[in-house]
Amino acid sequence: MRRLLGHALSLAKRTGASVTVGAVKAVAIQAFGGPEGLALIDLPAPEPAAGQVLIATEAIGVGGVDAMIRSGALAAYGFERGHILGGEVAGTVTAVGAEADPSWLGQRVWAFTGVGGGYAEQAVAPAASLVPVPAALPSADAVTLGNAGVVAHFGLRQARFAPGESVLVRGAAGGIGVMAVQLAARAGAGAVAVTASSAERGDRLRQLGATHVLDRTGAGAPDVYDVIIDVVAGADLPAFFAKLNPNGRLVAVGAVAGDPPPDFGTRLFQAFRKSMSFATFSADTVSGSERRAVTAQQFAAATRGELKAVVHDVVPLEQAADAHRMMQEGEVFGRIVLTPAGSRTTRVTPPARPVPTAAGSD
Ligand SMILES: NC(=O)c1ccc[n+]([C@@H]2O[C@H](COP(=O)([O-])OP(=O)(O)OC[C@H]3O[C@@H](n4cnc5c(N)ncnc54)[C@H](OP(=O)(O)O)[C@@H]3O)[C@@H](O)[C@H]2O)c1
Repeated sequence: MRRLLGHALSLAKRTGASVTVGAVKAVAIQAFGGPEGLALIDLPAPEPAAGQVLIATEAIGVGGVDAMIRSGALAAYGFERGHILGGEVAGTVTAVGAEADPSWLGQRVWAFTGVGGGYAEQAVAPAASLVPVPAALPSADAVTLGNAGVVAHFGLRQARFAPGESVLVRGAAGGIGVMAVQLAARAGAGAVAVTASSAERGDRLRQLGATHVLDRTGAGAPDVYDVIIDVVAGADLPAFFAKLNPNGRLVAVGAVAGDPPPDFGTRLFQAFRKSMSFATFSADTVSGSERRAVTAQQFAAATRGELKAVVHDVVPLEQAADAHRMMQEGEVFGRIVLTPAGSRTTRVTPPARPVPTAAGSD
């Protein structure tokens, strides 16, 4: 333990990373339910186990899964009071556990912490999940691109999307959607339609590559597509499935509106003669090496200005409940990011520089 803290302190001096020895600020679920159930607590500094690294966090991604865990909707999975939310962080490696490559020490990385542990000044993560963050990429951008970019990339692959095809991204204003829009546009989609709840959101999505903006019901033109990437599911999923061309493919990558209706299977079968396909996609089914390769490619593309990390806001870690309220109110466009106090006074990001979007500026 002492050796690890020594490492952490000397690295903090060298890199400017934030390290609090002995105690770490973290955000835990004190009561399942609304955002008010989140509280800032002090924890003993975590220690990396075998195969893990310790990261002084600079940016922490806030996602829909965090909100579901906080609400208690995933109680069946065994989440308990005191759980630290957060699965995606970027920061500097300050210690390595046994069997982890010591050359990670001092590197700024993106990491997948799993289903928790991320909302903290220091977080442990499997060394196998790490992706180096290029010097020119802010940590907030890294956690915004991270998982969402992987889901969008492999969701399009699952849909067997090919250049020239028409694509609809349903629920395009979220972290996954803004990535799917950009990737489809950059890959040469014939049309990139989106659903959005306001004209202002539609305009922002056009700047990312959308060519057609529909309301949440999907009313408007075009009304048929080769590929639909669906983040929403819920009661309207059969109506969107019916918008596929013959041989079209709909891939559900999320379910922010809940499960589809019970007769979805029957309605899917009624379209038998159009040879349409429905699939789900979970990033859990992709190998770690493939995920890391795609994340590294997307980080590089973002530093070249070819992909835009859509950061809605960067909020202090201790205001995590406010970040959850913003998500709950439907205010968030792209991704909301937390940052611990130490990082705000040291280095959250490299100096700002304008990054053009794929289709103009935001
Ligand atoms: N496949 C995977 O491996 C994977 C990985 C991580 C997360 N997920 C899933 O992805 C989802 C979260 O993704 P995200 O963060 O990109 O989404 P999000 O930001 O929570 O929602 C995306 C957009 O959907 C629209 N929307 C929200 N509620 C809606 C409703 N009831 N009906 C219609 N539209 C609605 C909103 O845009 P407008 O207001 O503009 O309509 C919102 O911006 C969750 O279901 C999560 O479990 C999947």
